Amino acid sequence: MSAENNHMKVAVVGAGQMGLGIAHAFAISGYQTLLIDIDPGQTAKAVVAITDLIEGGARLGKLSAEAAAAALERLSTSEVLADCVGTDLLVETATERLDLKVRILAEAEPLMAPGGVLATNTSALSVSEIAAGLAHPERVVGMHFFNPVHKMKLVELVRALATDDETVAKARAYAAGLGKTSILVSESPGLTTSRMSAMAGNEAMYMLMEGTASAEDIDTALRMGFNHPMGPLELGDLTGWDTRLSVLRYLHQTLGDKFRPCPLIIKMVAAGRAGRKVGHGVYKYEQGVKVPGSGLRASTL
Ligand SMILES: NC(=O)c1ccc[n+]([C@@H]2O[C@H](COP(=O)([O-])OP(=O)(O)OC[C@H]3O[C@@H](n4cnc5c(N)ncnc54)[C@H](O)[C@@H]3O)[C@@H](O)[C@H]2O)c1
Repeated sequence: MSAENNHMKVAVVGAGQMGLGIAHAFAISGYQTLLIDIDPGQTAKAVVAITDLIEGGARLGKLSAEAAAAALERLSTSEVLADCVGTDLLVETATERLDLKVRILAEAEPLMAPGGVLATNTSALSVSEIAAGLAHPERVVGMHFFNPVHKMKLVELVRALATDDETVAKARAYAAGLGKTSILVSESPGLTTSRMSAMAGNEAMYMLMEGTASAEDIDTALRMGFNHPMGPLELGDLTGWDTRLSVLRYLHQTLGDKFRPCPLIIKMVAAGRAGRKVGHGVYKYEQGVKVPGSGLRASTL
């Protein structure tokens, strides 16, 4: 696969937790990968994390030392979107804000290679709305990845109102090129996964706020009772409550009151407790590891 993909240019815009995972996936799968972020601190952090992932993969025997070195060579970074000129696939994965995503795609569209695909990793925004002002909205598709990208096998593809069959087929081929399984969703707020997971995370926060059970017990309930690999509060910490809140606000606006964001999420985001990425969410984290017994308690709310 690597040799086949080597001539394909992929740009990943946004070097946060998703951008670094997506860039890693493309680089190890043989694509020339450019990771772009307006914040050079973010790209620098992402390169360290990607290098760790690649070197870790080599240590585990998932790729050879040569393949690891080649993957790192395929990866480059920039602070400037204009550097994505001649890109075959651009995956926009910047902060979850409609105006930002619209601006990034509008600026990138004229720079793409002929027939290039513009994909957005939005969790819940309308891909049709993101694509609306472009010259070729038929080349825009949702490619929704999961966190952490190197472990999660699914890519949820989103067909927007204008997306054509060729673009869907190309997006499916790119997902397959990463060794991922894709499903196709007709655009609808929150798709399948974000809608389900926003609902479960919001309900878990209401239960925590009401003192129904401790954070640890709510998470254990879903892990042990339903065989979920993570509880809804642990998952919210991983996703980031800031991202989760944006998703909930959008679902509340589009799908109604059942998605009204829990006041505890609003309070946590206002307090800067966005989750694992800042070391503190429902739980505390030290060097990325959850501190036992650190879950928020109703008595302290
Ligand atoms: N976190 C998740 O679990 C998850 C899962 C699937 C999809 N998503 C979606 O992926 C996107 C990114 O989420 P994240 O969790 O990686 O966020 P994040 O906050 O970790 O990273 C966002 C990055 O975007 C960068 N950015 C902002 N404006 C930019 C611009 N104009 N150009 C380039 N970069 C810019 C920021 O500097 C930051 O590094 C969002 O749309 C989110 O909804 C997130």
